[in-house]
Amino acid sequence: MKTRKTILITGGAGFIGSHVVRRFVKNYPGCLIVNADKLTYAGNLENLSDIESVDNYKFEKTDIVNKKAVADLFTKYDIEAIIHLAAESHVDRSITSPDEFVFTNIIGTVNLLNAALESWKNRPEGKLFYHISTDEVYGSLGNEGFFTEATAYDPRSPYSASKASSDHMVRAYSHTYGIPAVISNCSNNYGPNQFPEKLIPLAINNIKNNRQVPVYGKGENIRDWLFVEDHSAAIDLIFHRGTPGETYNIGGNNEWKNIDLIRLLCKIMDRKLNRPSGSSEKLIKFVKDRPGHDKRYAIDSSKLQKELGWYPVHSFESGLEKTVDWYLSNTKWLENVISGEYEKYYDSMYSGR
Ligand code: NAD
Ligand code: DAU
Repeated sequence: MKTRKTILITGGAGFIGSHVVRRFVKNYPGCLIVNADKLTYAGNLENLSDIESVDNYKFEKTDIVNKKAVADLFTKYDIEAIIHLAAESHVDRSITSPDEFVFTNIIGTVNLLNAALESWKNRPEGKLFYHISTDEVYGSLGNEGFFTEATAYDPRSPYSASKASSDHMVRAYSHTYGIPAVISNCSNNYGPNQFPEKLIPLAINNIKNNRQVPVYGKGENIRDWLFVEDHSAAIDLIFHRGTPGETYNIGGNNEWKNIDLIRLLCKIMDRKLNRPSGSSEKLIKFVKDRPGHDKRYAIDSSKLQKELGWYPVHSFESGLEKTVDWYLSNTKWLENVISGEYEKYYDSMYSGR
């Protein structure tokens, strides 16, 4: 296993990034973990309050769209590897304002690639640019089949098109300039610390507050759900044992129709909140569909399983229970992120739908 002394993690104050940062800070005390994050609405240092004063952790408030700020990170630290998670990540926001997705997801990634290239040009051995991507780059499936690493890219939302574009740039820099790079494409994550614009935390928060739960269209779209800690474990494994130049798909083998998932969540919420059985389900409201809504995602992660021995360890039921428990006991966190801005966002997205 290669030990890289200083690891830059971008987007570490966000949902998945905060789990990855904590894991690396705790598991690799001999490495300095530098978390570079702009702290957009989705970035929250409260996610990392338990490790903020640990010796091998540093936070740098950085906008990756700012070329100089990115270059400065490489001057200040002897960065040997990057795990790049910073991104605009919400599909609905990409439909109403795509520009930010182009800036952060594409330009931001290219800025990081350029800085790594410049810094590593004379000694690329042992370095690694690990780009975290999504299964959405592969497009949408019908009732059958799975996305494999060989599936042709077919992104269909501004979000997935920007992520696909960043994947292409990473591969191009690897092929053309020899940057050692690896990419993983993961399915839908859920778990603690996810911003409540995404389906599961939004539904938990709305049910808790007796607010309607908006289900797009008929709720028949299918997603493959993975507990965030299982994704972090896969990232750790790929970072240490993956082969540069390769791509790895990560998925939960856990497909759910949105409406079935919401009904399961409603049952859990009734039990946790001691409400009569069936009360949360009454909050479900079918609303106007997301434009261009991808029908189904399903990941074949057999390459990662066979080559690196990764398997998800959390069952969906236990992961959902843990997630619900976390949101119900972290009311302060939830209150802090549901600011006036969140309410404005919610109204603009959902009123009249
Ligand atoms: P998130 O929205 O919760 O967090 C994104 C983080 O990036 C935030 O901390 C934000 O402040 C930061 N950021 C945004 N713009 C930035 C900029 N210009 N400069 C620096 N930092 C910036 O996202 P997430 O759900 O944790 O996703 C993390 C990564 O994983 C993304 O690249 C996403 O595409 C990918 N991914 C997410 C999922 C999922 O289900 N959430 C699944 C597969 C892949
Ligand atoms: O597949 C990986 C992707 O999963 C990641 O790359 C994205 O960053 C992440 O946001 C997620 O994208 P989705 O669009 O699948 O996630 P979201 O939580 O927004 O929606 C999940 C499903 O639920 C989707 O079919 C849309 C539907 N939905 C969503 C919301 C917010 C609803 O029915 N109602 C809602 O209010």
